[in-house]
Amino acid sequence: MKRIAVLTSGGDAPGMNAAVRAIVRKGIYEGFEVYGINYGYAGLVAGDIRKMEASDVGDMIGRGGTFLYSARYPEFAHREGQEKGIEQLKKFGIEGLVVIGGDGSYQGAVALTKLGFPTIGVPGTIDNDIPGTDYTIGFDTAINTVLEAVDRLRDTATSHVRTFIVEVMGRNAGDIALWTGIGSGAEQILIPEQEFDIAEVAKDLKRGRLNGKKHTIILLAEGVMSGDEFAKKLWEYDEDFHTRVTVLGHVQRGGSPTARDRVLASRLGAKAIDLLKEGVGGVCVGVRGEEVVYNDIVETLANGKHVPNLELYQLNKEISF
Ligand code: ADP
Ligand code: F6P
Repeated sequence: MKRIAVLTSGGDAPGMNAAVRAIVRKGIYEGFEVYGINYGYAGLVAGDIRKMEASDVGDMIGRGGTFLYSARYPEFAHREGQEKGIEQLKKFGIEGLVVIGGDGSYQGAVALTKLGFPTIGVPGTIDNDIPGTDYTIGFDTAINTVLEAVDRLRDTATSHVRTFIVEVMGRNAGDIALWTGIGSGAEQILIPEQEFDIAEVAKDLKRGRLNGKKHTIILLAEGVMSGDEFAKKLWEYDEDFHTRVTVLGHVQRGGSPTARDRVLASRLGAKAIDLLKEGVGGVCVGVRGEEVVYNDIVETLANGKHVPNLELYQLNKEISF
């Protein structure tokens, strides 16, 4: 294998640039020619592909977003799109591909693998919802961004003795809410992986007020319901609950990656190159504990499931009253 390519796909995540940098630099170091594909699978099918030099990734390690751009391109779920993509790769003489993205992007990598094209998945999403890894690139930065915002909300919540519902991203996963709930000392954490009873939530909130709490913060994962819906539910349960809702939205996806995300991105990007050098494709890289690991991508997506650490959920109940 002489020539390889990299693309970023799906929702962008801080640290994607650091991963591309590692792939380009380590790839060149190992003797590959490395190509960058713009706009994810859309750019792959369109042939928006260019050769990258080491200098193209200069000053990229700390930059948020993805300088290769990203796209949602549903057409890639169809075989026709996938075959066109492989045609383009062959046209450029590319023999291996690294895909940095979330679970949707991994499905694209699985499709290419099944069609016989050596593809490696690198987990890049703020959601931390990909099987085969403890952490995804971008998660650490996103939770630090959320924490900063919640700390600010707490100031105003305390001043007015108010209840704030903070809706955070994560799609169907609760990790962002779980980690930032613990980190901000939130009174309640609501995640899709854990059922809740509105009566219990209301009782807990009231007890906190009776105990003299001056603020109440509820970290709500978007996968449970929207902040407005939850505010309505609380109010319907008891008209005493006048809440304020903050939807943090896409601010969670931006910003310079944290040290942890930069290091994770560099390690995982470099591992993808090591694997391609050994002729290994059809896998996804990740981190388990402190170890960089890799697994069969088809099997991982078919049978693996990311499960949040529910010990954290229980811990919050024990220390947030
Ligand atoms: P993420 O990778 O962040 O989860 P998406 O779910 O939007 O984001 O997926 C990113 C892209 O991956 C999609 O726009 C599409 O191009 C491709 N993709 C998603 N699902 C599939 C699938 N089942 N088969 C092939 N490609 C897919
Ligand atoms: O997957 C990353 C993510 O930010 C999710 O947390 C969120 O549900 C979704 O993407 C938002 O997608 P879009 O940027 O297309 O609005």
